[in-house]
Amino acid sequence: MSEDLFKRLVSHCKEYGFIYPSSEVYEGLNGVYDYGPMGVELKNNIKEYWWKAMVQMHDNIVGLDSAIFMHPKIWKASGHVDAFNDPLVDNKDSKKRFRADVLIETEIDKMLAKADKEVEKAAKRFGETFDEKMYRETNPRVMEYIQKAEATEKRLANALKLGDMADLKALIDELEITEPDTGSRNWTEVRQFNLMFSTQMSNTGDDGKLYLRPETAQGIFVNFLNVQKTTRQKIPFGIAQIGKAFRNEIVARQFIFRMREFEQMEMQYFVRPGTEMEWYAYWKEKRMAWHRAVTPAEKLRFKDHDNLAHYANAAVDVQFEFPFGFKELEGIHSRTDFDLSSHSELSGKKMQYFDPELNEHYTPYVVETSVGCDRMFLTVLSNALVDETVPDAKGEDSTRTVLRIAPALAPVKCAVLPLLRNNEELVGKAREVYDSIKLHFLCQYDEKDAVGRRYRRQDAIGTPYCVTIDHETLENGTVTIRERDSMLQERIAIEDIARIVLDRVDMAKIL
Ligand code: GAP
Repeated sequence: MSEDLFKRLVSHCKEYGFIYPSSEVYEGLNGVYDYGPMGVELKNNIKEYWWKAMVQMHDNIVGLDSAIFMHPKIWKASGHVDAFNDPLVDNKDSKKRFRADVLIETEIDKMLAKADKEVEKAAKRFGETFDEKMYRETNPRVMEYIQKAEATEKRLANALKLGDMADLKALIDELEITEPDTGSRNWTEVRQFNLMFSTQMSNTGDDGKLYLRPETAQGIFVNFLNVQKTTRQKIPFGIAQIGKAFRNEIVARQFIFRMREFEQMEMQYFVRPGTEMEWYAYWKEKRMAWHRAVTPAEKLRFKDHDNLAHYANAAVDVQFEFPFGFKELEGIHSRTDFDLSSHSELSGKKMQYFDPELNEHYTPYVVETSVGCDRMFLTVLSNALVDETVPDAKGEDSTRTVLRIAPALAPVKCAVLPLLRNNEELVGKAREVYDSIKLHFLCQYDEKDAVGRRYRRQDAIGTPYCVTIDHETLENGTVTIRERDSMLQERIAIEDIARIVLDRVDMAKIL
């Protein structure tokens, strides 16, 4: 999907009530969005899909809904107060702010793109005899681009690991990185910027400073003992949570990809120390299967972290090919016993587990899966939005915009349409059908405009089924049911509508 189509997606989201910019009447609030009537349905369905896959399908995973406000010491223990930073750099001419690592990564992408272009040109020149692997390994210009990219990547990872802001600045200067809009190279020094938002609570001691949680995971860690005791779970077991997280991102952009207020779906899996790599492999496979059930396999890939977070001994991203390239959709991390041990130390409460099989106490290790609900939303929509040419009622070419969302995730499952709006009998029957099926799933009743236009409106919000009440309905109690993608219509009895639609939109189909 190109830049243009991405713009289309953003405007489609607004036009059809999926996503609005926050506080729009006051010119908006950067990096914050509101979900409209269609958006909230799709988002709830994504959450249900995740919850069912994680909690309902695993008898050793239980749910939690912990508070957003937590004791400030939690963020000290977790390392977020000291280490949850991004490197920030300002351009003195444009006064715009950037993430230094992102500027450098973009430069690396450019080097690799140059290498790809050389290879493409050569492939055209040599035709069928072209050996791409050999060309990449022997052509001096291609090798130079690739080697430069790799060396820069290594230096960047090292500087980030050591917190060496001076070297990041040196890289920006050496690579002659320019401000994307103005071309200016007039940069400030690079400095660390903590991403946590803070607020004030009057009675918490100290200065009353609280943080808005930057991840939901810590609510799970500090409830580990409570949940283990009340559910009597034996290790290995997991705790799952869906909730808001807040990060003061230096640059919030690419629509809902990087926001300052967003939602996470996280699961912490507590395991015996020494078994974490087996579970890490298990969850990598499980989570990829979950994605592949609704996203084409070729648009997904794993990317190991070059630069491990302060708590991890292994980490991988599930990346999706967003309209702006392959980017992180989900993180899977082996978090060791870092969090539970730190909370034990700072709180003075032992956060251990007694393993009856080993007859010993230990601090469990943790494998975490963490997917952004909003990024999943963007993934579903990026996959689904299609403009296509289809025959109209007269058999002539017409274009339609359709959201090919998996039926189980679609906001509205079925639309009920009387063929004519000014025929009392048809309208009365359609209302009766609508009332009888709305108990089972979200339906829409629509009588405005010609039926063809109503089909198009439903296509544009991804409704998988449209039921039309026509003259034959009044004679024999049957309706037509139209399937969104094939546009094929069948005739079925009114009493069968709910059963047929329920069966086809069942979440079991993607679980
Ligand atoms: N508890 C681990 C953790 O928070 P993370 O990789 O920082 O790990 C997990 O975040 C997921 O949360 C990401 O893969 C992404 O889908 C989502 N996410 C992170 N920052 C985000 C942001 N600013 N806007 C939207 N989603 C975000």
